[in-house]
Amino acid sequence: RPPQGLRKPADIFEDERKNSQGADLSDAETVTRIKQLRPTALPDVEPITAGQATGALEAVNSPTTGDQIAAVTVSDSETISRAIAHASTWDAPVSERARVLRHAAELYEANLGPIFTALAKEAGKTWLDAIGELREAVDFLRYYATQAERDRPVPRGVFAAISPWNFPLAIFTGQISAALAAGNGVLAKPAEQTPVIAAIAVRLLHEAGVPRSALQLLPGPGQTVGAALTHDPRIAGVVFTGSTETAKLIQASMAERLAPGAPLIAETGGLNAMIVDSTALPEQAVRDIVASAFQSAGQRCSALRCLYVQEDIAPSLIEMIKGAMDELRIGDPWDLSTDIGPVIDTDALATIQNHIGQAENEGRVLHRLHVPERGTFAAPTLISVSGISDLDREIFGPVLHVATFKSSDIHQVIADINNSGYGLTFGLHTRIDSRVQEIADGVHAGNIYVNRNQIGAVVGSQPFGGEGLSGTGPKAGGPLYLPRFARPQSATKTG
Ligand code: NAD
Ligand code: ALA
Repeated sequence: RPPQGLRKPADIFEDERKNSQGADLSDAETVTRIKQLRPTALPDVEPITAGQATGALEAVNSPTTGDQIAAVTVSDSETISRAIAHASTWDAPVSERARVLRHAAELYEANLGPIFTALAKEAGKTWLDAIGELREAVDFLRYYATQAERDRPVPRGVFAAISPWNFPLAIFTGQISAALAAGNGVLAKPAEQTPVIAAIAVRLLHEAGVPRSALQLLPGPGQTVGAALTHDPRIAGVVFTGSTETAKLIQASMAERLAPGAPLIAETGGLNAMIVDSTALPEQAVRDIVASAFQSAGQRCSALRCLYVQEDIAPSLIEMIKGAMDELRIGDPWDLSTDIGPVIDTDALATIQNHIGQAENEGRVLHRLHVPERGTFAAPTLISVSGISDLDREIFGPVLHVATFKSSDIHQVIADINNSGYGLTFGLHTRIDSRVQEIADGVHAGNIYVNRNQIGAVVGSQPFGGEGLSGTGPKAGGPLYLPRFARPQSATKTG
């Protein structure tokens, strides 16, 4: 529900759109069924192209155990050239494309077992996160299929789709389904860490009826495979989700080599804040703070990084946050009771640990949990800061920074948040309606959440995406996204 006075969420299909229901994990039979559907091993991955595919073999490792769980053939330069040469738009009528994408959504839901297994083993996703991903992916397929049928977009050509590891199914599918719904071809480059999930998704899309020339998978590093795609003048546009630094590299490469009109759709990082004032309901605020900062091990672009608490309630609220952190269960993502799994790899863990270590040396660590010694588990940690300006970059893990503010300084807090240059999500807990409107108008953030957590945007209801260093827009899962994949065309006939 939008708070009083705020804009209503854009929903273009109010009557016809239904979001995926996912699976009810409180139902023992459902859980047993999912467990029975789990395959014991993950498949190895090769490039899935319309031509011949070759390349060197590399290991895919589990973040939970560090063990090898699959092998991936990294696309070599010949494979990339052949894939680009064979790539084509999807020239079926829009009704047929929409039917195929909806069928793919059904296949995704029917393949919950293999998808859950890959999300847990390859990306360290808990059951809750895995369900969220599957639902979001299915929603994207249906949303863009319906929008394409309504808008009848004219395709631009072949898009490079470059995606991150933190939503290896949902974002991977969201990018591809929008491009395909508009009739484009896609060369998909998944994150290095998560090629297996990407390959499962591409196989299901092909099984549903997407032609091989319209959707090819090119696993491999960003610096080689990703760069080869964004450097190629035959590419009609790039859809990218990942770090702000990589988006800038891609933007520079496109400016040099691609036509000036080739679109870059980039969703990037965030330094997201939440303000909790003294009128907030403490139990509700603490629940939402902990979910926003620590769910998915803090590996969401939307995650809360810097919490501002009004000073008169700060001591008690911080004690409550520590208590709620102590309740979090950290461990194997396959265990249904696990709240927080591992971070993605040893590099990510080292960055997070360095950041915590520095705060520890400065005496700013307020609370830290114990984690398993195996794998790449990062300790959920609470760190005191004077404000968001103490953070010079996004720390992509379960680390929450907390600052206090005086009621009279609220405008300075908003200015500090805006000065970070990012603008992705923002959370507010207050019971003063006039303050909701004033703060929401003042904060530069693409997604604002009031009296709730600030993660898990729902396709159709909460179009997702930021401004400034957080991305180019348009928002994924909203009405403006698909048109970026279509040629803006105006035709006139007389007589
Ligand atoms: P990343 O930028 O390191 O990698 C993202 C993708 O870009 C990967 O597929 C990678 O291989 C590729 N890549 C790397 N260098 C490249 C190059 N030179 N040319 C072309 N492609 C290249 O990001 P990541 O670590 O995978 O993901 C985490 C980041 O993504 C965080 O900053 C997070 O905030 C952001 N993110 C943003 C959103 C959003 O919707 N705004 C959603 C999820 C993640
Ligand atoms: N769309 C994801 C979220 O809202 C990133 O958490």
